[in-house]
Amino acid sequence: KLKVVTLGGGSSYTPELLDGFIKRHKELPVTEYWLVDVEAGKEKLESVGGLIQRMVKKAGINMTVHLTTQRRDALKDADFVTTQIRVGQLDARIQDEKIPLKYGVLGQETTGPGGFMKAQRTIPVLLDVCKDMEELCPDAWLINFTNPAGIVTEAIEKHSAIKSLGICSGANSMMMDVAKTYNVDRKSISARIMGLNHLIFADQIMLDGKDISADFFARLAEGTGNHTLKNVPDLGLPREFVKALNFYPLSYLKYFWLNREMVEKEIEEMNQGGTRGERSKAIEKQLFELYNDPALCEKPKALESRGGAWYSDTACSIISAIYNNKKEIHVVNTLNNGTTRDLPDASVIETNAVIDKQGAHPITYGPLPARVRGLIQSVKAFEELTVEAAVTGNYHTALLALASHPLVPSVIIAEKILNDYLAANRDFLPQF
Ligand code: G6P
Repeated sequence: KLKVVTLGGGSSYTPELLDGFIKRHKELPVTEYWLVDVEAGKEKLESVGGLIQRMVKKAGINMTVHLTTQRRDALKDADFVTTQIRVGQLDARIQDEKIPLKYGVLGQETTGPGGFMKAQRTIPVLLDVCKDMEELCPDAWLINFTNPAGIVTEAIEKHSAIKSLGICSGANSMMMDVAKTYNVDRKSISARIMGLNHLIFADQIMLDGKDISADFFARLAEGTGNHTLKNVPDLGLPREFVKALNFYPLSYLKYFWLNREMVEKEIEEMNQGGTRGERSKAIEKQLFELYNDPALCEKPKALESRGGAWYSDTACSIISAIYNNKKEIHVVNTLNNGTTRDLPDASVIETNAVIDKQGAHPITYGPLPARVRGLIQSVKAFEELTVEAAVTGNYHTALLALASHPLVPSVIIAEKILNDYLAANRDFLPQF
């Protein structure tokens, strides 16, 4: 028996995940797959659940699919629990984006104040999930994709006994862009990656074991091979800056390096087709129309227009590496524990790690390069305060968290954003 439970199973991303389990069914024979969602997500759960059942049938694999709103029934004796919940659904994300933009501050799902707010709604729920797991499946692995994935994983590491890893599609999508540049298979590419979730960079890139860093970084400066995600505006960095950087950044770093331009772009986009959350809501609506078609039996191509396209490759290969004790290298969110001396040991970082049955063994990195050290350290301090605020519900800690974020330009604005956020999220903040 291999029982996998997905919390937030009604998400439009679920077919992506199942596609990964189907592809790997030989090495990772999931026999029971439980999709769990809350009452408010029941309609989506049934719609996506129908597609999941058709996909399993078409694949002809031995897997039973269960749909439920009773989380505890699902968690009993689970082996792996994956989380992709969105407390308050996309409407809450849209508010997270719009409130800071009112004050000329970045309005984004995870970077900046939006990540703070999403963490406040999410952490209490996931810590409750961990309590249930401690009772019902204490040996299970929690594989968290819920954003902000790094912050949420840090909260779980600090406040529960459950074994957990945080994962993100970002590093894999960077490697896919390298593979595309050289017209090779994604499997030929590996890289040394370091940073925090949505704040990573690769300073060494390998193609079939050969170091191609210098060539690839030169191509980046020429404007090819640039990393892009569907959900991040594609503004180019100045050529001399890219040359000076001499590493390969995840596109989210542009929110810091091109802060003013990105905010202007977001405001322009908001006034045209809506914020990214509003546009994701429209894509989601189309996806559910497809899912409701009984003729559809596979992951639809349209899912690639979401920022998290291909995340199942990351999720399922990491689950398989644990299950099969593979000792493979993957990029995960896990405790620093000395991987870099420039961050506290108890910080969750995103890094290369050897994955086996015991979990993640991060590969020593050493000191962070000065060109990103300050940025990473200050975002980490913000994350630490964000976790503390989410757990304690202390207003002052929350204010310090927002005020310490490098993209919040003044404490007066931090206070305004916080007050608006707390008022708009009253239904989701039991801790405040
Ligand atoms: C990227 C990030 C994910 C994020 C997603 C948003 O893939 O790595 O953490 O959830 O984009 O995509 P969306 O389509 O919802 O804007």
